[in-house]
Amino acid sequence: MKFTGSHILEAKQFDRKGIEELLKRATEMDDFLIEKKDFAGLLAGKVMASLFYEPSTRTRLSFETAMLRLGGTVTTAANIEMSSLKKGETLSDTGKVISSYVDVIVMRHPQNGSVAQLASKASVPVINAGDGANQHPTQALLDLYTIQKKFGSIDGKTITLVGDLKYGRTVHSLLEYLKHFKVSVRAVSPKALCIPDEVLSHFEESGVKVECFENLAEGVNGADVVYMTRIQEERFENTNEYLKYKGVYVLNADFVKKTFNKNAIILHPLPRIDEIAGDVDDLSQAYYFEQVRNGVPVRMALLSMILC
Ligand code: NCD
Repeated sequence: MKFTGSHILEAKQFDRKGIEELLKRATEMDDFLIEKKDFAGLLAGKVMASLFYEPSTRTRLSFETAMLRLGGTVTTAANIEMSSLKKGETLSDTGKVISSYVDVIVMRHPQNGSVAQLASKASVPVINAGDGANQHPTQALLDLYTIQKKFGSIDGKTITLVGDLKYGRTVHSLLEYLKHFKVSVRAVSPKALCIPDEVLSHFEESGVKVECFENLAEGVNGADVVYMTRIQEERFENTNEYLKYKGVYVLNADFVKKTFNKNAIILHPLPRIDEIAGDVDDLSQAYYFEQVRNGVPVRMALLSMILC
């Protein structure tokens, strides 16, 4: 796959070679973050626009940090709710306009397909930082990177996805990447929040069937990676619907000690609400803070491959 000048809209764009190239560059960027050599000034003179129409802490700050660490600069639309879009401008016009100022656009928006819409008339690369319940391709790249960094490879692993698999966009992107690896995948969710058919059938084209569970202990038994997600409150029709599922799966230290493999890791794209109790943080399996740190080298890798 070609990175230079490309939009990054969905995980489906990546083949295995593309994922491996990206992960290799992320390892180099990780080394650079420690030694501060080789890539200094790589993106000097380049400007990134960060357009977040939905709340974000980690994704936004790690993209912006990645750009700054490579010598680039960042501009942003403060009070984006007050922007031209509010006046009725189409996303495609916004894309065209912002392209004339910057070298790359990173965007998050509550509607599925909105980032692709903005990209349709943009003359610079646009990166999807989350569009509704659809895709979050860069989060899933850092999830893969975390698994590889911990175990040395992704092939051969058993990965259990837990929680809101219907609305959790990171899960949708992760499954599209995992399709290219020799993995076993399990899903633990209430029936109403299971993986959407389209995402599931796309993954299963690989010949691997996802094993589905409602019981958490059964689903995590023997897993190498347990990928927790929060119930995505903002995607439900109303609060009562959300409350039916809030707190449905909770990990605490006792449960993890009794049920998990010693060498397993717990990932979570964060923020967590109540699905991982604080007492899990001190266990060797807790890996979500290591995971979040990996957002910077992975996004440095992506920006450098798109812009150079
Ligand atoms: C995720 C997201 O925005 O989809 N968060 C993130 O980017 N780290 C997960 C979530 O909000 O639950």
